[in-house]
Amino acid sequence: MYDSRFKVQVNNAFSNEFIIYMAEHLEIKGESKEERYANLLPQVEAVLEGEPDQIARMANVAAMLHETFRFWWTGFYRVVDDELVLGPFQGPMACTRIRKGRGVCGTAWAEARTQVVPDVDQFPGHIACSSASRSEIVVPLMREGNVIGVLDIDSERLSTFDATDQKWLERVADLITSPAGD
Ligand code: SME
Repeated sequence: MYDSRFKVQVNNAFSNEFIIYMAEHLEIKGESKEERYANLLPQVEAVLEGEPDQIARMANVAAMLHETFRFWWTGFYRVVDDELVLGPFQGPMACTRIRKGRGVCGTAWAEARTQVVPDVDQFPGHIACSSASRSEIVVPLMREGNVIGVLDIDSERLSTFDATDQKWLERVADLITSPAGD
């Protein structure tokens, strides 16, 4: 079901049919982080609705999170064979491949658990794709008990991420891997 905010109906001059367009507009609303995530989630659902391609799904979700919160880096790594491979992202260029158990991303994969890192310099083995990154959150994308990728977000400030980010980003991760995705 498309969220009604994404629908505009235009009367086609050549027939009586209505054409439905999806607005390419992200509504960013809310004072607090909680409010912003709450406002964003239905928009994420609407964008994912009916789109089975996993890359397309990740691409728009990375853009929506990045634009809403102005993070330093927002993106996905996908499990391909025995490595994490860089997927759709927003921000500076990043490491292409990460092994299981390596860095924050590889740890989230190995443990199948979200990693909230208030200070990346204190995380043993952190992989510094960008020296500007100071804190990070990595959420595993789970399907049928297996990690199929990770959502990775970096901030150029310390202690950006907390339990609120974890709660909402885990919901976003669930939406990404929900049945519509291939
Ligand atoms: N810092 C991550 C690597 C990915 S970049 O941050 C985009 C890590 O330690 O796994």
